[in-house]
Amino acid sequence: MAAMKLATHTGPAALPQSDERPERTKTDLRAFINLLERHGRLRRIDHEVDWRFEIGKITRDHHGPILFENIKDYPGARVFTNGLSDIQNIALALGLDSRTDQHEIVAEARRRLEHPLKPITVEAGAVTENVTLFGAVDLTALPIPHWHEQDAGRYLGTWHINVTKDPETQQRNVGVYRMQLLGPRQATVSASPKSHLSRHVAKAEKMGQALEMAVAIGVNECMVMAASAGYPYGWDECELAGAFQGRRVRLIPCRTVQLEIPAESEIVLEGVIQPGVRVTDGPYFDYAGKADTNHRAFLFEVTRMMFRERPIFRGASVGVAGAEDHQLFAFLAALELADFHGKRLRQLVQNYFLRMRQFHAFQFAGRIGSLLDRAK
Ligand SMILES: Cc1cc2nc3c(=O)[nH]c(=O)nc-3n(C[C@H](O)[C@H](O)[C@H](O)COP(=O)(O)O)c2cc1C
Repeated sequence: MAAMKLATHTGPAALPQSDERPERTKTDLRAFINLLERHGRLRRIDHEVDWRFEIGKITRDHHGPILFENIKDYPGARVFTNGLSDIQNIALALGLDSRTDQHEIVAEARRRLEHPLKPITVEAGAVTENVTLFGAVDLTALPIPHWHEQDAGRYLGTWHINVTKDPETQQRNVGVYRMQLLGPRQATVSASPKSHLSRHVAKAEKMGQALEMAVAIGVNECMVMAASAGYPYGWDECELAGAFQGRRVRLIPCRTVQLEIPAESEIVLEGVIQPGVRVTDGPYFDYAGKADTNHRAFLFEVTRMMFRERPIFRGASVGVAGAEDHQLFAFLAALELADFHGKRLRQLVQNYFLRMRQFHAFQFAGRIGSLLDRAK
C-alpha cells in the first residue's frame, strides 16, 4: 500500500492543499456530505424508508455514507448515517486526500494534536434559523429512527455531542453519551459512572442543582471525534476538535442555559439534567453487539430547540463489527485517545483489538467487559 503524499503545511492553521480546498472553507456537516458525494462515496436514498427499523437496517447492511431523503411520516426530512464508515472517509473529514495511507492519516492527526486551537464565540450561526421554546418543543417532530428491533425505543443521541460545564470550575466537557427519546421534551442520557459528564452531575447534585446541558446533532465530524476521545478532565474537547479540523471551532451562546454550542450544528437542544432522578435507558443494541440496559441513566428535559432550515438529522446504527463507531474508536486507539472508562486490563485488551482492527474480537471483549474489569 503506497503512502499518498500529503501536501506540506506548517501547522494546524494551514489545512493541506488539495483540489477540495474551496469546500473546506466551510466546516459544517453539509460541506462534508457534499465532499463525500463529489468523491462518489455518498449514497442518496430517495425512495420512502421507514424510520422504524428500516433506516437502521440499511445503515448496518451498507457500509458507506447514506443520506435518506424520503422518510415515512416526515415529509422533507433528511437523515445522514455512516459518515465515518471507513478510514478514507475519516481522511476526508480531516481535510486530507481520501487516498492518504492509513499510517499517514494517523501521523498527520498526531501532528495536529500538538496544536489545540481555542474556539471562538460568534453571535449567530446557521442553527439559529429556527427556534422553538419550552412547551412548543416536540422532539417527535424530528425523524428520529428506531434503529434496531432490540432497542427499547427511538434513539435521539447516537452520533451527537453533549456539552456541560463543571458546576464549580465552569470548565467545559464535550462527550458522546447515548440518548433514548422518552417523550416530546424528555430523553435519557446514558453516561458511564466514570465519565466526565457523570462527574459534573455528581457535583451539581451535591450542590442541590440541576446540571445544564446542550446537545448538538449534525456537527462537524471532527467535533464528534474529539467528543468521543479520552481527553483529560478539565481539558476542552472543542480545542481538540479545532486541532483535528485545523481551524477554530465557532461557538454560539445558548439562551436558556449558560453554554455554547457549534454555530453550524443542524439541531441543538438546550435543557437540564434533573438532580437526583434516574431512569432506565435501553435495552439498546450497542457497539459490542449486545442489548445493553442502564437503569441509572440521567433524565434530560429540553427547554429550547434550535435547528437549521430543513435540518439533517445525524445518527448511527451500531452493533455490527467494523461499523462507523468502530472505525472512529480504531482511529482514536491509534492516537492513544480511546477510553472506555473500564479497568486497566479491559482498556488494554479493547485498545489492542482496535489497533489491530480486529473488530469481532473488540466486540467480544466489550461483551465480557465486566469480567475483564473484575480480573486481577
Ligand atoms: C457513537 C458513540 C457512542 C457512545 N456512547 C456512549 C455512551 O452511551 N455512554 C458513555 O459513557 N460513553 C459513550 N461513548 C464513549 C464516550 O464518548 C467516550 O468514552 C468519551 O471519552 C467520553 O468523554 P469523557 O471522557 O469526557 O466522559 C460513545 C462514543 C461514541 C463514538
